[in-house]
Amino acid sequence: MSAPKKLFIKTYGCQMNVYDSERMAEALGGEGYVETKSPDDADMILLNTCHIREKAAEKVYSELGRFKGLKAEKPDLKIGVAGCVAQAEGQEIMRRQPLVDLVVGPQSYHRLPEMEAKAREGEKVLDTDFPEEDKFEKLKNRPKAKRGPTAFLTVQEGCDKFCAFCVVPYTRGAEVSRPADRILREAQDLVERGVREITLLGQNVNAYHGAGANGDMTLAQLIWELDKVDGLERIRFTTSHPNDMQDDLIEAHGTCAKLMPYLHLPVQAGSDKILKRMNRAHTAESYLRLIERIRAARPDILISGDFIVGFPEETEADFQATLDLVEGVKYGTAYSFKYSTRPGTPAAERPQVDPKEADDRLQRLQALLTKQQREVQDSMVGRDVTVLFEKAGRLPGQMVGKSDYLHAVHVADCDRAIGDLARVRILSSGANSLAGALID
Ligand code: SAH
Ligand code: SF4
Ligand code: F3S
Repeated sequence: MSAPKKLFIKTYGCQMNVYDSERMAEALGGEGYVETKSPDDADMILLNTCHIREKAAEKVYSELGRFKGLKAEKPDLKIGVAGCVAQAEGQEIMRRQPLVDLVVGPQSYHRLPEMEAKAREGEKVLDTDFPEEDKFEKLKNRPKAKRGPTAFLTVQEGCDKFCAFCVVPYTRGAEVSRPADRILREAQDLVERGVREITLLGQNVNAYHGAGANGDMTLAQLIWELDKVDGLERIRFTTSHPNDMQDDLIEAHGTCAKLMPYLHLPVQAGSDKILKRMNRAHTAESYLRLIERIRAARPDILISGDFIVGFPEETEADFQATLDLVEGVKYGTAYSFKYSTRPGTPAAERPQVDPKEADDRLQRLQALLTKQQREVQDSMVGRDVTVLFEKAGRLPGQMVGKSDYLHAVHVADCDRAIGDLARVRILSSGANSLAGALID
């Protein structure tokens, strides 16, 4: 038997790309590939790319340039670009970087085995179609291998919202939900392989409306089905849009014990003028009322968000409205970005904010968000939380896991195993994590 070929995948961007990279590795596993942690001994290199901001997209070309030497030494090495840059720039990638053998868009991963075979024969292959078939259904080379206690599971892809700054509707295509029975089968399989916590993924996950036994199901109904899966202990989902936050989902946060008290609910900005220009279809006030309703259902829920500063025509007063909104919400975590002009999106054509001004706003916003994040984390001290252990810590006898609120928690003198859940009393709060002790 010939030695297995080696596959090196580098993943950029969001959790959906992490999930997709796992699926690609499985698909190529059927073609005799095993994963390697270094590009140096790889027979195939795949970059799973992100197009969301200019920096992310440009990184791909510098990364590709670094493989020149490797390819010269090893002419049989195949190099592929997958993900959202592949979708957005397709042919352009092959033109800009001739060492690329294969370009595959996010909806065509099930065709990778055929594409790999063609590339092996020396062909340049490109597939950025949006085929009708469910790529995940066709990607069925799942090994039954044991895996870690947490997993992502994509339930919905694409987006129809067309926020004026965003490439996702173009790179991932229209919003599509996977049928519930397939998701439940996949969840069952994950649990049998050791998974205790599943994060349901979608660019607009709370718009989920996949086919169920009695018609389309909401995300909350899907969560209640997953709640019945024995051995599955925790359910999370990301990313949600404020306008799709239905009553049954809010209610589930109060009543479903497996649904974790953490909600990532991006608002992007606090000025109604800017929200309107972003095509977000909600106001600052409606978002704040929504947060109130969610907190009424689950008072201790940790709220997370995304922000863009320096969106075209954002004034200092508009930015101040973002700071006010942040003060009103009190975020447990947040991601904030300087607006990045994306070719082909509506906002790209509008008057841009001075980059220095945008940098300054980003710094001020991040200072406030960091302060809030720290306050929320510090407020955990003295409280009892449940921790799912994910790995051994750096110190002997120490274990590290995540609390219900997704805080990293270090526990000393811990006799628990990876995958165990335990009650932990939080003793102190550090820069990026908490420390606690097991409660007997
Ligand atoms: N589907 C999710 C997230 C999409 S991308 C949602 O609707 O919220 C993740 C985050 O990247 C966005 O929430 C937004 O804050 C940021 N983002 C998207 N496009 C951007 C751009 N052109 N410039 C800067 N940040 C951007
Ligand atoms: Fe992008 Fe808006 Fe869709 Fe989120 S809702 S993926 S920000 S277009
Ligand atoms: Fe990036 Fe595509 Fe995800 S653009 S954020 S990898 S959907």
